[in-house]
Amino acid sequence: MAKALQNGLQIIQKSLTRVAKKKFSAGAGGATGEEMEKYTRGVMENIKTTTDAGEAVSSADLIIEAIIESIKIKRDFFGFLDSKAQARCIFASNTSSLSIRDIAEACSAERQARFGGLHFFNPVPAMKLVEVIKAEKTSQETFDTLVAVTKQMGKVPVNCKDTPGFIVNRLLIPYMLEAVRMAERGDATPHDIDTAMELGAGYPMGPFKLLDFVGLDTTTFISDGWREKADRGEIPKELVEKSALLQKLVDEGKLGRKSGQGFYDRV
Ligand code: CAA
Repeated sequence: MAKALQNGLQIIQKSLTRVAKKKFSAGAGGATGEEMEKYTRGVMENIKTTTDAGEAVSSADLIIEAIIESIKIKRDFFGFLDSKAQARCIFASNTSSLSIRDIAEACSAERQARFGGLHFFNPVPAMKLVEVIKAEKTSQETFDTLVAVTKQMGKVPVNCKDTPGFIVNRLLIPYMLEAVRMAERGDATPHDIDTAMELGAGYPMGPFKLLDFVGLDTTTFISDGWREKADRGEIPKELVEKSALLQKLVDEGKLGRKSGQGFYDRV
């Protein structure tokens, strides 16, 4: 647990250094080590870590959960937090594929009105978008607060309903899966598909680079969950047709950037 916290802090520190370099190199004299150090230290001093979730939330106004995409683990966690947090506290999940309503049901009726979705995008420091999700029981006041908080963070909110994949993933996941099936059919190579989408459609990363970036396991997890929704008629089946190649890479532990290898050998 201590190692995970340390790892998290290191990732934040690395990102901040990148932001600081950019911020201070804009000035006439360029970045000085002292300025950058002061900036990153100032931010890091505002971050506290603990392994005691109950203590961490006892005086919080807003909790944003970003744990593993398991409905059971999320529900257990929020059920626990519901008994520890103040009544005024708003709960938000950063889920990319699960229903906010299904997660929120672990909490009291009052909390369900103060429960919504705040979905950030990778890499979070660079991506401006946040999908703000209003579930069936989210109150208008809670939703408006989540929109205001998003703006305070310097991000751009979009309003979403509690539908599978919200806006971005609903379009992105079927697109990435079709790219994999295109390569499987032998229509084009992953490299050519990436080049085509980068230079022909202006995407910053082609679908295979993006898959490696997001994580092949994450994409598989999302599409497996959606297949169940497709079986219930909630989304079209052809959008999430299974790919043997994607599954093979996941089974081999080739998960993309997080494991060092995915569709590309060195990620
Ligand atoms: N921390 C801090 N800043 C970062 C960063 C990080 N980890 N990564 C990139 N940046 C910043 C850079 O400092 C730079 O800032 P400026 O514009 O101020 O110069 C900017 O982002 C661009 O970075 P680079 O110039 O180094 O590289 P790039 O132009 O190739 O951009 C990228 C990198 C932003 C990752 C770009 O390739 C991109 O937009 N890729 C697509 C990302 C995407 O589609 N994300 C969504 C994934 S789906 C998802 O997240 C949802 C889900 O639920 C699965």
